[in-house]
Amino acid sequence: MQFVKIEPSNSGEVHQLDIMIFIDSAWSEKSWQDELENAVVVLLQDEQNQNIGFLAVSQSGSDLEIRKIGILTEWRRKGLGSNLLHHCLEIGKQMMCERVLLDVAVKNKAAIDFYLKNGFIELGHRRRYYRNGDDALLLVFTYHPQHSLRHLQSNL
Ligand SMILES: CC(C)(COP(=O)(O)OP(=O)(O)OC[C@H]1O[C@@H](n2cnc3c(N)ncnc32)[C@H](O)[C@@H]1OP(=O)(O)O)[C@@H](O)C(=O)NCCC(=O)NCCS
Repeated sequence: MQFVKIEPSNSGEVHQLDIMIFIDSAWSEKSWQDELENAVVVLLQDEQNQNIGFLAVSQSGSDLEIRKIGILTEWRRKGLGSNLLHHCLEIGKQMMCERVLLDVAVKNKAAIDFYLKNGFIELGHRRRYYRNGDDALLLVFTYHPQHSLRHLQSNL
């Protein structure tokens, strides 16, 4: 398995994978071209260089936002999503981020379990957050939870 960073000229590759994983909610190729201007997009490839998953993250101040993550159906529950997520946490660390944030549909139980298993906690619940009316959970991973707790307590 290897991680390959996508260049803006290669938007078609992640777009194809997005369609295979997210089907109706895949982004257009134009959206991916725009995304690649600001985000870091990484492909997970098998030994034959076949794409099996992807991750898109962007930085905002000291926060890293997970914009999208997905693994092809036949490759799920093998720890590969976690590998990709840990790679993302490493990117955030190198960017000196303090937190990693994301939103996930409340009804996407698999993804919520996946994030909770990997150290994320719930930060908030956003009602009717998505265009289709679904609620979202806001989840956060904190690099130095003790430091954040002290910071919170000193501001009480
Ligand atoms: C979410 C996703 C990336 C997880 O990838 P994955 O490779 O299957 O994840 P892992 O194998 O690393 O799973 C790690 C843990 O997460 C939890 N988990 C993952 N999938 C789960 C599921 N379908 N149901 C319940 N728990 C699940 C489990 O605790 C699992 O550990 P276990 O297999 O030892 O029980 C994958 O399901 C996916 O691509 N889903 C569709 C796209 C999506 O919803 N993306 C997130 C949008 S915010």
